[in-house]
Amino acid sequence: MTAITLVQGDITEQTADAIVNAANSSLLGGGGVDGAIHRRGGPAILEECRKLRASVYGGGLPTGRAVATTAGKLNAAHVIHTVGPVWTPGEDRSALLASCYRQSLRIAAELGARTVAFPAISTGIYGWPIADGARIAVRTVREAAAPPVEEVRFVLFDQEAYDAFEAALAEPA
Ligand code: AR6
Repeated sequence: MTAITLVQGDITEQTADAIVNAANSSLLGGGGVDGAIHRRGGPAILEECRKLRASVYGGGLPTGRAVATTAGKLNAAHVIHTVGPVWTPGEDRSALLASCYRQSLRIAAELGARTVAFPAISTGIYGWPIADGARIAVRTVREAAAPPVEEVRFVLFDQEAYDAFEAALAEPA
């Protein structure tokens, strides 16, 4: 069974086989986790992202999908970029958020990753309420995590996000 662990901190300081990036469909960088990953990981990540845009993802990476690149100078073998949905009141986009976790885990498994670090996708600039984002993340990882992935680590930036994930983990599976 895959262990789910929680850490409060900066995801770019983590050591893991794969680090997941809360990207946007351009794959060309942004703020939040995305900005931090490109800053600390260095230009090799952006270079591979540009190649992906010039080949398979000419129109951008669709929401809910994921794709891997090198992790550059990060303490990881891979960065898995995924595009979360923007929180849209009156519209249920939770299947797209679940898809980010599911697709990222599928790619991590294909790459042979045993440890995967996730941020709380969509809960920053994309505005998703943290309690709901945490429930979707935990539920989906519980359903979808499989060997060779042994540990899924949620890396939460602040206390509020940490508490939300702790509460989601305390709910019965
Ligand atoms: N480590 C861990 N968590 C972080 C870090 C960090 N270094 N920085 C922020 N967070 P966000 P999104 C938390 O905005 O909502 C970018 O511009 C943050 O507090 O990074 O999916 C992309 O290019 C929040 O809980 O991602 C897209 O355009 C969570 O990580 C857009 O933002 C996600 O916040 C994606 O927005």
